[in-house]
Amino acid sequence: MSNSSNPPRNGSPATGSTTGTGAPAVSDRNSLTLGPDGPILLHDVHLLEQLAHFNREKVPERQPHAKGAGAFGVLEITEDVSRYTRAALFQKSAKTDMLARFSTVAGESGSPDTWRDVRGFSLKFYTDEGNYDLVGNNTPIFFLRDPIKFPHFIRSQKRLPDSGLRDNHMQWDFWTSNPESAHQVTYVMGERGLPRTWRHMNGYGSHTYMWINAAGEKFWVKYHFHTRQGMAFFDNAEAAAMAGTDADFHRRDLFEAIARGEHPAWDLSVQVMPYAEAKNYRFNPFDLTKVWPHKDYPLIKVGTMTLNRNPDNFFAQIEQAAFSPGNTVPGIGLSPDKMLLGRAFAYADAQRHRIGTNFHQLPVNQPKVPVNSYMFDGQMAYHHQGNAPVYAPNSGGHSWSDQTGPVADGWEADGEMTRSAYTLHAQDDDFGQPGTLVREVWNDAQRAQFVEQVAGSLLGGVRSPVLERAFDYWKHVDSDIGQRIEARVKAGSAPEPVQGMGDG
Ligand code: HEM
Repeated sequence: MSNSSNPPRNGSPATGSTTGTGAPAVSDRNSLTLGPDGPILLHDVHLLEQLAHFNREKVPERQPHAKGAGAFGVLEITEDVSRYTRAALFQKSAKTDMLARFSTVAGESGSPDTWRDVRGFSLKFYTDEGNYDLVGNNTPIFFLRDPIKFPHFIRSQKRLPDSGLRDNHMQWDFWTSNPESAHQVTYVMGERGLPRTWRHMNGYGSHTYMWINAAGEKFWVKYHFHTRQGMAFFDNAEAAAMAGTDADFHRRDLFEAIARGEHPAWDLSVQVMPYAEAKNYRFNPFDLTKVWPHKDYPLIKVGTMTLNRNPDNFFAQIEQAAFSPGNTVPGIGLSPDKMLLGRAFAYADAQRHRIGTNFHQLPVNQPKVPVNSYMFDGQMAYHHQGNAPVYAPNSGGHSWSDQTGPVADGWEADGEMTRSAYTLHAQDDDFGQPGTLVREVWNDAQRAQFVEQVAGSLLGGVRSPVLERAFDYWKHVDSDIGQRIEARVKAGSAPEPVQGMGDG
């Protein structure tokens, strides 16, 4: 008997679906009932499986950087940088398959792509020596220099506990109480806070990393990915309109560009600091709130990254992608940057919770080289090692690692245990570099736009004493800019709608 509530099938008749165990599924359109109008029967295992699996088909979204998308591509090394690193992926002519994911930081997984924010720039390289991940942003610096502040920072950018609303007051309260944020806030309130598309933004490793060459010599490096599409930005009005008409604009732009055969590319360069120069460089080179001016350490070209393949399945290949700054390969190390050291723990821990204990076994996260680890079992264990010994050392032929002594990617440290800020170098202060950015890098139009942006954001519900602190904060960055911001706020609402980070 036909059921009038079922629309006709489209196209050719289906060959039929199966249950999760591969047996033919009888119907995806009618559940099993006792007579057409009777109750549903509990032994309709196919229905039960469908409903139960549906209840479990979401995983928790990423805590920060929940909204994003990505694509696959290739990193090609065009220059010889072997005097700095022996990492196989950075040797001249090497081509390495990779995955990139771009994101906003504060918004949830359904939030608009064009809210003012920093953008994530995550890269996973499937190298011959294991996976190398570089998890950076579209700015070369960050808000903080101690990882213990990170959860507080992210919460201050998200939502109020009672109303569940985002809140300028909370954001500025955090920023002005943590003046090391000034450099990054200057970037975010400038045009970098509203990239036109992901294709039109630069990416940075942001932290200082270590490179080690074949002779064991160590260098400090910073990574820069300059967009070959040119940088382009939205203004506030365009971004606000786009947030309303197409919340997925950046995701759509990347997917459609790649589908059309327009493959976005970035030039990779590095700044290299000889190991011994870190001690006395005018800025503490491990402080993530600082750049190394290019006149001190010029860019050295390395190669090009091109994105050329869309995911086949967003959930499997993007939502379940697991990036971690702790994933390094021989020839590359971390550095004394405390933020980086904190991140080396945080990501894999988040992924064990968000995706599952064996997240590294999923195809998108698997290295292309064989894995021989002493991590066994756990939920959803897929790869296994048969009956090989599960302990090391062992006499059963299961190899283990056993290096001792100084490590190739190590550094020296001394002193007693302490809770304190980094040692200051000659020119370290929180406001110097943002002042240089405002005065020496930007032009008049960019400064004017910045004043409007900050003032507009401060007008949106920021109360005393945070408001007065914000005026001081900007006067410390640059007294003229600070005074202009204060005057603009005191004069009343800005002429056009201006978005603060998160006020949409
Ligand atoms: C101590 C400071 C930080 C902590 C504890 C931290 C923690 C996290 C966590 C837990 C995630 C979610 C990971 C996941 O669920 O897969 C995440 C995502 C991310 N973080 Fe951080 N983060 C920190 C600082 C930074 C910095 C300094 C940058 C950039 C320079 C950054 C860039 C990113 C990006 C791009 C993502 C998205 C990764 C993806 O695309 O899957 N984070 N962070």
